[in-house]
Amino acid sequence: MDKILADYRRQVGQFEVVDIDESRVEALRAELDVQAPVSLRWTWEYGSEVEELRALYERGKRGQWNAETDIDWSLPLGDAGEWFLPREGALLMPSLLTLMGRDEETCLEASKDELAYTLSQLLHGEQAALQICGQLTNACGTMDAKFYAASQVADEARHVEVIAKLLQRKLGTLYPISGTLKVLLDRLLTAPTWKMKTLGMQCLFEGVAVGILDDLHKKSLNPLLSDVVRRVKQDEARHAAFGILTMRRVVKESDAEEMAEMEDFAYNVLETLNANQQLDMLRLFGPKYGIDPEMVLQMTHAMPDWSKINSDLYMHTVVPNLCRLGLVTERTESAYRERGMIWGDRFGSGLDADVAKSMVKN
Ligand SMILES: [Fe+2]
Ligand SMILES: [Fe+2]
Repeated sequence: MDKILADYRRQVGQFEVVDIDESRVEALRAELDVQAPVSLRWTWEYGSEVEELRALYERGKRGQWNAETDIDWSLPLGDAGEWFLPREGALLMPSLLTLMGRDEETCLEASKDELAYTLSQLLHGEQAALQICGQLTNACGTMDAKFYAASQVADEARHVEVIAKLLQRKLGTLYPISGTLKVLLDRLLTAPTWKMKTLGMQCLFEGVAVGILDDLHKKSLNPLLSDVVRRVKQDEARHAAFGILTMRRVVKESDAEEMAEMEDFAYNVLETLNANQQLDMLRLFGPKYGIDPEMVLQMTHAMPDWSKINSDLYMHTVVPNLCRLGLVTERTESAYRERGMIWGDRFGSGLDADVAKSMVKN
């Protein structure tokens, strides 16, 4: 298996991190034109062939909302003194600064910076989702899948709109894409087949996004943040359901070689995401708050329950779904465990296809 960003890896204790230097990150951000192969497929079957996808499309139509008029933009977010997420446990930086004995005001400012950073990365991911769904309208073989992908294009445009407005109107800052995320999103956008694109965007990235959004939603103390996250999460659950339903059909039709290829692709993308260990963010804010990214890495990795905490995001949705699809076998399971991405029962308590279907019935 070829490692992604092999030239930017180094050992920190037992752990191999991905750490991209700033000049390379700038160059990655400047790569605006990307050659993404898409093979277009016609179909003459206009009736429904895949009933469950058609049903998802209908739900998508019913679930539309308007990012400008359905959100109460008069509500405040991040005003002085407001803890919009719990001080400890929800975000990394306020917890670190609390440990370092910093005052309340500094911890609050760091929480605002970190939220703006996280939402900015989600925003860039939403733009990638918008572009890949456009590709899927071309590449998918059935009209049901084309209809569904088209409705998701509208959803993703709305997500880009709502998160950009939240950042610009309320937090006042929009951070550029991290180097690791740009590399991974380009991988998904340039994947050669619609099957790989669906696996990459709908299963891997939507799965991770649902984990982040669900966490924000559970912990949010601010009505505006809660409303935006709830609405986006509801759409994302529908998208994740499309990914699972489609991939379930794909794996049934795949031979051993194709399964191994998909398993490797999924592992490589997720492993690289995990290998950054928030270093991109810590490098950005480290100087402002006197945080040494290297120290943070060593400190967190020395915690006895590091694997359990680290695996939360992966065990929320994405890894259990891959396990159910047969895309995590003994071949990769131990590697996922070694890197703190699987902890406990590998099927976790994540979303399976039937749960996903019930989640979108609204
Ligand atoms: Fe989205
Ligand atoms: Fe999505």
